[in-house]
Amino acid sequence: MEIHAVVGSLATQRAAAIGLGLFADGGVVSGEAAELDARSGGLIRGVLERGDFSGKEGEELVLYLPPAARAGRAILIGLGKAEGFTLEKVREASARLAAAAARLKVPQLALSIPGRQRLIAGIGEAAQAAVEGMLLGTYGFRELKTKAEENGAAHLTARLLWQDGDTLPTFERGLEAGRKIAAAVCFARDLVARPSNLLTPTTLAECARQVAAAHGLRCTVLEKPQLQELGFGALLGVARGSAEPPTLSILEYRGGEPEAAPIVVIGKGITFDSGGISLKTAENMERMKYDMAGAAATLAILKAVASLGLRLNIVGLLPATENLPGATAYKPGDILRSLSGKTIEVVNTDAEGRLILADALAYAQRFSPAAMIDLATLTGACRIAVGPLAIAMMGNHRALRERCEAAAALSGERVWHLPLWDEYFELIKSDVADVKNSGGAPAGTITAGLFLRQFVGEVPWLHLDIASTAWVDEARPYVPKGPSGAGVRLVAQLLRTWAAHPAAAVQALRAGV
Ligand code: BES
Ligand code: MN
Ligand code: ZN
Repeated sequence: MEIHAVVGSLATQRAAAIGLGLFADGGVVSGEAAELDARSGGLIRGVLERGDFSGKEGEELVLYLPPAARAGRAILIGLGKAEGFTLEKVREASARLAAAAARLKVPQLALSIPGRQRLIAGIGEAAQAAVEGMLLGTYGFRELKTKAEENGAAHLTARLLWQDGDTLPTFERGLEAGRKIAAAVCFARDLVARPSNLLTPTTLAECARQVAAAHGLRCTVLEKPQLQELGFGALLGVARGSAEPPTLSILEYRGGEPEAAPIVVIGKGITFDSGGISLKTAENMERMKYDMAGAAATLAILKAVASLGLRLNIVGLLPATENLPGATAYKPGDILRSLSGKTIEVVNTDAEGRLILADALAYAQRFSPAAMIDLATLTGACRIAVGPLAIAMMGNHRALRERCEAAAALSGERVWHLPLWDEYFELIKSDVADVKNSGGAPAGTITAGLFLRQFVGEVPWLHLDIASTAWVDEARPYVPKGPSGAGVRLVAQLLRTWAAHPAAAVQALRAGV
């Protein structure tokens, strides 16, 4: 889908369809709706008066317009209550309009930012939200469909209208940011949707190389012999059951001062998680191709950061392997020597994500990072604790968590803070090694966080468990069923704010608040 910014009024657009958001507040037809209503002989007032459309959230109606109106149809979308209308509602309404236009197979859609008259937000943010909604709401994973009609997206050109020429540059900047961020999210969704026979640790590393080449990043891939030489005992332990060799892809983006410490982003890249010898049950096991969603998000975040040209130094680390059972697989009771030197007793081979992250977090120390952020589909318990609406956030640093909460509010990707209470560390103490890899069911998301904390040292660190959000069972307006691209918008926003206020960020981190 192409999206252009155009200065103009909705009522006078020539287009196959125009999109119009209406609030549920008393059927008042004002502004551009009133103008369109006048041109179409009271059509809109008519459907409101008859009660065929009330403006309640998510309601949809297609009206065929008389020749006096220049557009062929109007797609009406209910915006719900005007009170407290948010950027998130803009994303949702824009997604619904674009999806309806795609379903109708119209070639053009003209729309204004839905509900903008009641929105308290900057122009750029509003434009960004509308574009994100449209691009994310019409996403589909189509590359493996062979029928021509299922293989491509609908050809839709959207005209996003803005009424004020003076502020158009700000509007266009927001639109452009939205485009780049949505493209990164869709890129992550594509990677996650690809099954494990097509997306292996090796092909994931190949994708990393491609992203690096396209955006001028440095990319190094550590292959099995190098991982052995360096002592990645935990990652190699998990990889033992698989015929596919593990990889660690390292991407470096240098947009900041040459000497500025980088932020390291790390993503769990289990390209298939069968559980290993502690085998999972068959039901929904095919889903476990999404266990590399953290790695996909990390790659997408680097893509977003580079295309936005953020003035920061960022390193991305993608530890990747399959987790399979087999004659050579690691077994419960095995003790692995991790890159950090710490020994880990494996009590459950299905708690493999924290093992590969332990080595990646230890490796990250080599970059003397200003901060580290990891993203991982780490625990089933996260799905119970916070459910599909939020990412579980943990960390060792309050200022960083608060930055993340602020980014959540702006990006619309919710986070919920879980505490890393020391008492729970008892659950993962081992009799025979330094630590064990599972503390069982109680506080399962937290004990996974506590496990990781041992490998971060003194570096400010944020842990995002995306197990509940990375795959969607029930579609939402701009998140179709399947891979969501969880974490990409959140972390991209965190980094954008960081780049905009670097001094404040560094100060807060030093203060250790
Ligand atoms: N990848 C899973 C976590 C997961 C489960 C993500 C379901 C999404 C949906 C992870 O590797 C895992 O298996 N975790 C175990 C840990 C347990 C053995 C301590 C879990 O959550 O059951
Ligand atoms: Mn597992
Ligand atoms: Zn896993």
